[in-house]
Amino acid sequence: MNIKGEVADIIYKILILGESNVGKTSILLRYINDTFDESAISTCGVDVKCKYVSFDNKKIKMNIWDTAGQERFRGLAKNYFRGAHGFIFVYDITNKESFDKLKGWMKDAKEKIQDDESFKMIIVGNKKDCENKRKIEFQRLKEFGEENKVMYIEVSAKTGEGVDQLFNDFVHELLKYRKIGTYKVDQVEERTYSSLEKSLISENKHENCNC
Ligand code: GTP
Repeated sequence: MNIKGEVADIIYKILILGESNVGKTSILLRYINDTFDESAISTCGVDVKCKYVSFDNKKIKMNIWDTAGQERFRGLAKNYFRGAHGFIFVYDITNKESFDKLKGWMKDAKEKIQDDESFKMIIVGNKKDCENKRKIEFQRLKEFGEENKVMYIEVSAKTGEGVDQLFNDFVHELLKYRKIGTYKVDQVEERTYSSLEKSLISENKHENCNC
């Protein structure tokens, strides 16, 4: 359920990472606006959108950071990893290289996060609508997810299939961790953003939300 309002019980910082052209921005726009653009423009640097949801009687604000997949922006994206509660790693099921490079993205995230910070990850195979061009079978994703003890799902930003489930399941997982004590509400709220990050969040206010 979506809610509007300034007050949130919990704030989560979630980053979307992966190679260029896999559909990171498209997944986010499908989730936030329920729209899809065939001619989406490549992200430069980073873009932040937010969404309020309600789970278990808690108002949750998700600040979702859409990073650029192009190699030249990769170093920049790493600057925003700090304080993240969750990472969404996206590949394109029709592009083997984008799947093979997941390990590198996951390594980058693990290296940047400090030891005392807990975070969750999910691997997302996008473009599920392109079944006839599929290069990575679902079984391969399943094995990779289980091997790395990471959640996984296939979606299509184009048709919308799986996109809500992706975010709902992920937030449930983040909440589960908070409940068993890994995250206390205060700690979640206190995860600080740098002033640059704060200005980015306010610059990218989305019309459907009250960031
Ligand atoms: P960067 O900003 O360069 O990192 O790319 P990105 O990962 O954000 O990809 P983006 O969302 O810009 O999508 C890249 C291209 O793939 C666009 O032409 C989209 O229209 C297309 N695309 C994204 N998701 C899907 C999908 O689920 N199915 C199909 N068929 N095309 C998609």
